[in-house]
Amino acid sequence: MKIGVPKELYPGERRVALTPDTAGQFLKLGFTLAIESGAGAEAGFSDESYRKAGVEVSQSAGPLWATCDIVMKVRSPTPEEVALLKPGQILVGFIWPAQNKELLDSLAARKVSVLAMDSVPRLSRAQKCDALSSMSNVAGYRAVVEAADRFGRFFTGQITAAGNIPPCKVLVIGAGVAGLAAIGAARGMGAVVRAFDTRSEVREQVQSLGAEFIEVTIKEEGAGQGGYAKSMSKEYIDAEMALFRRQAEEVDIIITTALIPGKPAPKLILADMVEKMRPGSVIVDLAAEQGGNCELTEPGKVVIRHGVTIIGYTDLPSRLAPQSSTLYATNLRHLLTDLTPQKDGVVRLNMDDAVIRGVTVVQGGIITWPPPALKLTAAPPLAPAARETGTVAPKGKGPHIMLAVIMAAIAAALLGIGYAAPSAFLMHLTVFVLAIFIGHQVVWNVTPALHTPLMSVTNAISSIIIIGALIQLSTPVRLVGIMAAIAVTIAFINITGGFSVTWRMLRMFRK
Ligand code: NAI
Repeated sequence: MKIGVPKELYPGERRVALTPDTAGQFLKLGFTLAIESGAGAEAGFSDESYRKAGVEVSQSAGPLWATCDIVMKVRSPTPEEVALLKPGQILVGFIWPAQNKELLDSLAARKVSVLAMDSVPRLSRAQKCDALSSMSNVAGYRAVVEAADRFGRFFTGQITAAGNIPPCKVLVIGAGVAGLAAIGAARGMGAVVRAFDTRSEVREQVQSLGAEFIEVTIKEEGAGQGGYAKSMSKEYIDAEMALFRRQAEEVDIIITTALIPGKPAPKLILADMVEKMRPGSVIVDLAAEQGGNCELTEPGKVVIRHGVTIIGYTDLPSRLAPQSSTLYATNLRHLLTDLTPQKDGVVRLNMDDAVIRGVTVVQGGIITWPPPALKLTAAPPLAPAARETGTVAPKGKGPHIMLAVIMAAIAAALLGIGYAAPSAFLMHLTVFVLAIFIGHQVVWNVTPALHTPLMSVTNAISSIIIIGALIQLSTPVRLVGIMAAIAVTIAFINITGGFSVTWRMLRMFRK
């Protein structure tokens, strides 16, 4: 099949759906490629670099739409582009089916298949295709760059002969993909970072990036379906705003990323909070396109209110076009790899595959959006009563009584064993119970993120078998000697493997 990449028509859009680097990988999947001349220019990719990568360069978009089986884009197609589609073609790009019902109908009327890159389901194995995350990552990073550009001081604190410079304080609201990228970038520049999110599951992610996770006293879990957030109660939002009102007096930069899928962005920074910020402070509102988290944001613009610069850009990924194009093109390449299992350049829309089902919003002219719901979240499941209200139920006395009964039963059993069992057994039992206790304490006090290295090192140490095997090596019985040698070899592999996995895992945590 032939893939075509036309120039983006949306005003100011600099991204492109194919890069020279990813072109080679598409060719390996059996596709042929064509791109409109100048399509990659704004992202820093010349026609010549595409030609060198084996891509045909077409002087205009017309032949691409007419001859290609697959058209890859970044932005949703314009009505003129929709009119160029032919039955049987496959269109790939950001479609936003929930917000673009008319577009979806017009695409279906063209009898094409449409893969929406904004509809990749949030499954671990789909992360490589997740263009929304890639773009949020770029937006979060760029938000810090934009803030740094407008902020009149260093991010990092310094002690100089000319005087001390306090570090810049940054508050990040919403610690999803964009929020975490912003935290990472701001920390990297030396700022003191605080973050808030309604989903308690992100606390550790925030802390692991070196930021402080701030909280409200009200207990209400914010995790909704599919890893996204849900709308919070009015009491919760009020408590949240009271927290931000206090923070506004202290911080220099606020980066807001709070979003609820399919709903307008919650208004969290009101005009009086902006007024409380020091002149020269900056707010970057990443939710500007969905109405903004700040009451004073003007989408697409930079405004100064009460001496505070409020940035409402809605094209942050496009402002870092080479990076976002590279990530987006890689997401597309991964998706196309899944769609061509035989690497023969022929796309197969296997609707039994949850990822392909999720992305396919129109199949051969039939609207297949929305896909069946996926229930996935990293948050711990709520108790049934809490699920109804979304609140965390207070812990009752029931579990404590149960624990006391179990402890009493164990004590009685131990007493019985003490009377009846031989003394050697008692000694072994004592060591066994202590080992369980110490093992539990060791594992319990280790951060979950470090469990894999912990398990691999425990695996290595648990190769105690090697001691027994070494003792048996010098035995005069040949068969026992051979068995001991095999045991030593296997234990050796176990120990070396365990330590090498630990080493590799720990390396991931080093800066
Ligand atoms: P998003 O862009 O929809 O929302 C941004 C953040 O705003 C979320 O963290 C949300 O909890 C937060 N938020 C909403 N209302 C808020 C409020 N009133 N106050 C403060 N914060 C508020 O979400 P995003 O960044 O696209 O992803 C959210 C999560 O989904 C990620 O943290 C991750 O756990 C999961 N995810 C999973 C993927 C996968 O498994 N393939 C891929 C990407 C994300």
